[in-house]
Amino acid sequence: MKILVTGASGDLGRDLSPILSRYYDVITTDIRKPDNNLEFIRCDITQPEDVKKATKDIDVIIHLAALLSCETSNPFIDVNVKGTCNILEAALENNIKKVIYASSVWAAARGGNFPYLPIDEDIPCKPEGMYDITKRMGEEFCEYFNRLYGLNTVNLRLCGYYPVEGFSDNGDIMWDKVDLCALVGRFVGTGPSYKITNPWDLTQAFKAVIETDTRPNDTFIIGLGAPFIQEDAEELGKSPLNVIGKYYPGAAEFFKEIGLEVPAINFWYTTKKAEKKLGFSPRFSLNDIMEMYYSNR
Ligand SMILES: NC(=O)c1ccc[n+]([C@@H]2O[C@H](COP(=O)([O-])OP(=O)(O)OC[C@H]3O[C@@H](n4cnc5c(N)ncnc54)[C@H](O)[C@@H]3O)[C@@H](O)[C@H]2O)c1
Repeated sequence: MKILVTGASGDLGRDLSPILSRYYDVITTDIRKPDNNLEFIRCDITQPEDVKKATKDIDVIIHLAALLSCETSNPFIDVNVKGTCNILEAALENNIKKVIYASSVWAAARGGNFPYLPIDEDIPCKPEGMYDITKRMGEEFCEYFNRLYGLNTVNLRLCGYYPVEGFSDNGDIMWDKVDLCALVGRFVGTGPSYKITNPWDLTQAFKAVIETDTRPNDTFIIGLGAPFIQEDAEELGKSPLNVIGKYYPGAAEFFKEIGLEVPAINFWYTTKKAEKKLGFSPRFSLNDIMEMYYSNR
């Protein structure tokens, strides 16, 4: 199966493409060449004709190319919105089997104003910043191309990607190298909370979408979900360890041992939909990590 990865020189593309190439024939594209030996096509997604050429004879497009920060609105709209439409138009013309759109949880909301918790895929969308709005528009166009033309599209609302040092190429934890506080904190709202911790999980998420029939257009949150429920919110905002202990027995002692302090938790995500429909969950849960830690000690 031929997979085209756009934005392949970016943070996600650089880590995703080589691992994905163990399973599929991966072709990379970007405006600058990634530092690997995978086949590369230079293509600016704002140029419709170039996009049509780059997407010929491809089965699946993983669309990562985007601007994440910018001082004015035009480049954001050109790359994130028009560029995404160029991908969708070309996918239609070239009979692409599936377009996987890398969206963001920020397409729905960010900050603290969520109408309910946990944040799921049905939360009413109120994107705040220009980037967030353009990511939401990308999702809308994916849905539109599916509804109107039957193009097979999927939106992955990534909680973010910020790898923790200390994972092997196969996604195993290297206990002598891993930053345990950083890794564990992700599960309970500290540091860059809920973000995907390693390239292996990132790749397995996209692989799960490639291998699953997701039609019609659907949206999935991908990241580190938490098991807390709405009724936990008040206590999580005051004494998070009391709640965490209910779901992760022994966590308070474990956090103390590794020196992790947990601040008030004001929001969290559920990734149950991705687990149920895609069969995706990160390789290790917090309970797995605690168990491995004690048996490796
Ligand atoms: N990094 C995160 O934590 C995060 C979180 C949520 C969603 N996402 C989404 O994942 C995707 C990848 O993010 P990233 O962190 O790798 O971003 P990045 O900025 O590291 O990479 C984006 C890539 O897109 C390329 N690009 C920009 N303009 C282009 C154009 N006109 N034509 C072709 N390529 C172009 C850039 O050269 C770059 O290599 C984005 O769509 C982003 O919105 C990322």
